[in-house]
Amino acid sequence: LLTDLPLAPRDPIIGLTEAFVADPRETKVNLGVGVYTDENGRVPLLRCVEQADERVVDGTRPWSYLPIDGLPAYRSAVAGLVFGDELAHERVAVVQGVGGTGGLKIAADLVHQTTPDARVLISDPSWENHRAIFTRAGLTVDSYPYYDSQTRSVDVDGMLDALRAAEAGTVVVLHACCHNPTGYDLTPQQWEQVRDVVVERGLVPLLDMAYQGFAHGIEEDGAAVRLFARTGVAMLVATSFSKSFSLYGERVGALSVVCADPDEAARVQSQLKVIIRTTYSNPPSHGALVVSTVLGDAELRQTWEDELGSMRERIRAMRTRLRDGLAAAIPGADVEHFVVQNGMFSYTGLSAEQMRALREEHGVYGLDSGRICVAALDERNLPTVIEAVAAVW
Ligand code: LMR
Repeated sequence: LLTDLPLAPRDPIIGLTEAFVADPRETKVNLGVGVYTDENGRVPLLRCVEQADERVVDGTRPWSYLPIDGLPAYRSAVAGLVFGDELAHERVAVVQGVGGTGGLKIAADLVHQTTPDARVLISDPSWENHRAIFTRAGLTVDSYPYYDSQTRSVDVDGMLDALRAAEAGTVVVLHACCHNPTGYDLTPQQWEQVRDVVVERGLVPLLDMAYQGFAHGIEEDGAAVRLFARTGVAMLVATSFSKSFSLYGERVGALSVVCADPDEAARVQSQLKVIIRTTYSNPPSHGALVVSTVLGDAELRQTWEDELGSMRERIRAMRTRLRDGLAAAIPGADVEHFVVQNGMFSYTGLSAEQMRALREEHGVYGLDSGRICVAALDERNLPTVIEAVAAVW
């Protein structure tokens, strides 16, 4: 059974954390995985989470099984946050997912069940796990142009051309906001162009929204999802609260599938439950209870929005500090892109070789693609990072 099993390569993102942990240098900095840390370098425990957690612990022990598709209050909260009043929630099949990744995997299994020959298009570049998830589910994965390294911007013409050339039924994975790994998002006008092509060509949009609230705000960052929801086409939306609630280890995510009518939604919901039951039976309860408690309470929700806003502003401030520091350290270098991009990640423009040198010579860990997590910068590690990036520039 196992004799010929080869050693799998280390995961390009989580595997980097393993290497970071094993690095004995005291000055090392982990800008690999997408985790927000505060000004003290710690993953924050949000106040809204702490307060909701007290209520959860008081009111819900002992822990029994959740329904296969998750906590009902959580599923409603997800529908409200993701779609608002844009459509009747009876048309949406929503299931709790084990993180956003779990939502994507359920989506991939559903697509494979309904259309095993479906082609999936992901952005070039995209989050490393996108290709892996859809390929492992048995689907064919190709890419559409997205990032133009010459102009350091989105190649929207290339993207639209690729979508126009795609066959009807092709699943198009779109990053709703805070594009991972580049940090470059479409403008509202470009989103409308993409929507038009997707609808005209009969493509299936799958929006991955793992960073709602990290670019401009909850409403603003959800605009792309609502734009597609208004079209009436079938769509899938994978969402995550890992980042926005700082609940990484709780694995709180969801998959929403927008259907033609309530009858279709009921059938889709039933099939999603079969996928979940045969994968992990039913989801964990604690994180979903915390999130639904926060989203269902006006005061806690306001606290959450304020705390999310603070995280967003701190990331922006760190981007500015990085830009200014690099501009001073590397005279004449164009480093404006650090403040143009959105969200947790920044495509530095550094090559794989330069990224390796950053790690090996300076103990600064980022991905070979050139991606760094700017949400892990703070006043303490900034000088090390600026010095290291300037040295390999
Ligand atoms: C990342 O891209 O670093 C995050 O989405 C975490 C992950 O699971 O890869």
